[in-house]
Amino acid sequence: MSTKGDRLWGGGYEEATHPLVQRMNASVSYDQRMAREDIIGSVAHATMLRDQGIMSADDHAAILSGLRAILADISAGTFEWSEAREDVHMNIEASLRDRIGAPAGRLHTARSRNDQVALDERLWLRRRLLGIATRMVELIEALSAQAWEHRSWAMCGYTHLQRAQPVTVGHHLLAHVEAFERDLDRVLSLLRRMDVCPLGAGALAGTTLPIDRARTAELLGFSKVARNSLDAVSDRDHLLDTLMAAATGMTHISRIGEELVLFASAEFGYIRLPDAFTTGSSLMPQKKNPDMAELIRGKSGRVAGSLVSLLMTLKGLPLAYNKDMQEDKEPLFDAVDTWEDCLVLLRDMLPAAKWQKKNLSDALDKGFLLATDLADVLVRNGVPFRDSHEHIAVLVNTLVKEGTTFRRAGAKRIAETLKVPHEDVADALNIGRALRKRDVVGAPHPARVGREAKAVGRRAAGYRKTLTALAAPCPAETMLG
Ligand code: ARG
Repeated sequence: MSTKGDRLWGGGYEEATHPLVQRMNASVSYDQRMAREDIIGSVAHATMLRDQGIMSADDHAAILSGLRAILADISAGTFEWSEAREDVHMNIEASLRDRIGAPAGRLHTARSRNDQVALDERLWLRRRLLGIATRMVELIEALSAQAWEHRSWAMCGYTHLQRAQPVTVGHHLLAHVEAFERDLDRVLSLLRRMDVCPLGAGALAGTTLPIDRARTAELLGFSKVARNSLDAVSDRDHLLDTLMAAATGMTHISRIGEELVLFASAEFGYIRLPDAFTTGSSLMPQKKNPDMAELIRGKSGRVAGSLVSLLMTLKGLPLAYNKDMQEDKEPLFDAVDTWEDCLVLLRDMLPAAKWQKKNLSDALDKGFLLATDLADVLVRNGVPFRDSHEHIAVLVNTLVKEGTTFRRAGAKRIAETLKVPHEDVADALNIGRALRKRDVVGAPHPARVGREAKAVGRRAAGYRKTLTALAAPCPAETMLG
């Protein structure tokens, strides 16, 4: 046995590793998802080494063509990943050696897997966050189009899930848009904060070789270089920030999921979900279950769990790199995948849901939603609000006992009971007018809702421009072809 035992490198070992070490140590089954980023990082690193005279032009050329061939194999699904080669970094480097021989041994000059993995994760995250941000813009656009179409469709607004005051479907949808725009803002600010290149930090203390970190950063499309080599290899804040943003975003999504489940039930009947997003029951032939709405509600728990998982992994770790940090990837990957899938589902499911005008309006009437408006009629006729509140409560109670509604009781009877002019009551009980009276900033006046829906569309166009600029490939990626 060599003095490495069965290890990939090092020397002076007297024993082979325990049988579980290889499986426990290996991350390749999941970190191979960063293969493209790993290769882009290597292209940038090798190019900087060549420019600095640390690597010959011939070796650089051989390395680049080897890396291109590896990427082609990986994309074609013919690359042979090996658990014995531990992780994505070693698999690619070892395969490069198999292909081009000696020059491959120069690629890892002035580099460690510690700064390499820190880089790969940033590049991977940058790409995926741009995708997520794009999905969010698409969702926001879909919601604003729906909001425009339904800007004057009256519906019950709720507090405590009890019918409260009238709003419009458009207003309701735009409330969710507000939450998604905050999510998008979180992603954009996170992209800005993580725009720092860790490569060149080496294992923890930089290198004695004359590398040019600014050049590497430029080749990789970063505007800044990590200022401290210890922090560069131990920082996983951008992962935590992502998981925090994902947990918050998924919480928003789960609230819509819950509304879709409720609104699609026969008890509400506010929307009909398209068949493409529902499934049948194996037992009950009549069922159409809103599984996708339930799952986007349910998956928020799993994403919040990923956030807690990474917090627990990082808590108490000393500087700088520790192997515990290999555990950062699975929760990150899972959360990002789940978040993007849910955004896509919602983007496609919400616009396809058909709002049921009649059910929306029946619920308004049955819920006495214009009770506050009637109380305001008394106020306008000189009654103190506290007293008018009382009079309307008594009136509603009587009508409930009779099993009737404002609409069915009629303005005439109500006006006589309340001793106010008939026109005032008729005016207050007209839902269209009731909505138009709500004419303050942020309120559901249909014209305001319409203007806001259009404004959202314009903001979305602005986000698209920002994202297109951020998505431009970096020079190292362009060199890969
Ligand atoms: N697979 C490792 C990880 O993801 C790469 C870094 C390993 N570094 C080391 N010194 N063992 O964390």
